[in-house]
Amino acid sequence: MFDIKSLFSRKKDQVGVSPVVASKSKENGIPPKKESKFELALHAFALLNPKNFFTGKKQFVGLDIGSSSLKLVEILGEKGSYTMNRFLVVPLTKGIIVEGTVADIDGLAEELSRLFNNSGCKKKSIVTSLSGYSVIIKKATFPQMEAHDLQETIHDEASKYLPFDNMDNVNFDFQILGRNANNPNQNDVIIVAAKKEIIEGYVEAIELLGMSLAIMDVDSFALETMYQENYEHEEKDVVVIANIGASITSLNVLRNATSIFTRDFPLGGNMITEAIQSQFGVPVEEAEQIKLHGPEGDELAKGEFFRNTLLPLADPLCAEIERSIDYFRSTYSDEDVKMILLAGGGANIPGIVNDLSQRLSVPVEIINPFKKINYNRKMMDVDYIKEIAPIAAVGVGLALRKLGDK
Ligand SMILES: Nc1ncnc2c1ncn2[C@@H]1O[C@H](COP(=O)(O)OP(=O)(O)OP(=O)(O)O)[C@@H](O)[C@H]1O
Ligand SMILES: [Mg+2]
Repeated sequence: MFDIKSLFSRKKDQVGVSPVVASKSKENGIPPKKESKFELALHAFALLNPKNFFTGKKQFVGLDIGSSSLKLVEILGEKGSYTMNRFLVVPLTKGIIVEGTVADIDGLAEELSRLFNNSGCKKKSIVTSLSGYSVIIKKATFPQMEAHDLQETIHDEASKYLPFDNMDNVNFDFQILGRNANNPNQNDVIIVAAKKEIIEGYVEAIELLGMSLAIMDVDSFALETMYQENYEHEEKDVVVIANIGASITSLNVLRNATSIFTRDFPLGGNMITEAIQSQFGVPVEEAEQIKLHGPEGDELAKGEFFRNTLLPLADPLCAEIERSIDYFRSTYSDEDVKMILLAGGGANIPGIVNDLSQRLSVPVEIINPFKKINYNRKMMDVDYIKEIAPIAAVGVGLALRKLGDK
């Protein structure tokens, strides 16, 4: 199993690459497969502020900054007895986060400030994440060499592996996964990279609040953390987590609770809202309400809408999930998908669970980040928890991160 979470350290005027954490794993059981631009595996990387580093177990607040909403998750306690103490989701003004980038730093800071005030959360150290738009995760093979040599090689030869010519403006990290199955002289290596200016956008907005960014994670990796904490699994178990957001859908295929394949595509809830907007000839806000609650009318008409209008509008999304999983199945022919877990707001589209299950002939469930995490029952009832489960999943994974948890 691989699990990098190695650190990006940041001084005041410089975002640099921290010492690399070399993998402990030798053979990680990743099966041989053809090269593909979709062959990515997920990692986290952290942006370490030494001021926050009192103990390796300091707890942070998880902040899922989506393009359509902000989710704050505070989890208290220790492994085995975690309790979600706070959860708050608030809509985010369109245009603040665009394609995974902070397009309006002041606007984000303002909305975060409101979120923190309304939540009552007093924690000042934040764990947040980049999504598929803003982070590049690439698998490559390299001759065997020491980690520090590999760091230099990646830096110098980056353009071979990453879509960047100049790595001086990029934060990257990597993990050596183990020997390549076809060529034992080579190591499989995962490279995670993000433009410094993208990370800086989040850092600046958070610092405007008087808070600090402790760890910068990746959405799909946060889901992996959440899965590891909540789901029993066997070594051979292959599970797909599909995170259907507003602007992007990310698939993360886990084997033994560790990412072996990921894919993102720019389809999500917005696409459905836009379709309703043009079909019904209504403004975007009204289209969003129709999507969530159905058109005005009796329950029968609403049921009809969800079955005969909404689900067909989600068809391109479901078809793309189907295509991606078919691609995974053909590439990793030894692996048998055991289950698909749906996360993100799109998981609540009525009928999507059955639709995907029929398309792919695999059990599909809405993800449950509260299987083994308790919650503050004075503030949240069972129905509320069920409704927020897929929306809170990334935030729960973020809130579970600790600086010492490599
Ligand atoms: N019951 C529901 N039926 C249909 N769509 C829903 C429902 N609940 C939420 N959604 C949709 O889910 C999307 C929001 O999901 P989520 O909060 O996961 O997105 P996000 O994190 O803001 O976006 P992204 O990750 O793409 O940047 C919106 O498009 C919203 O309309
Ligand atoms: Mg999201």
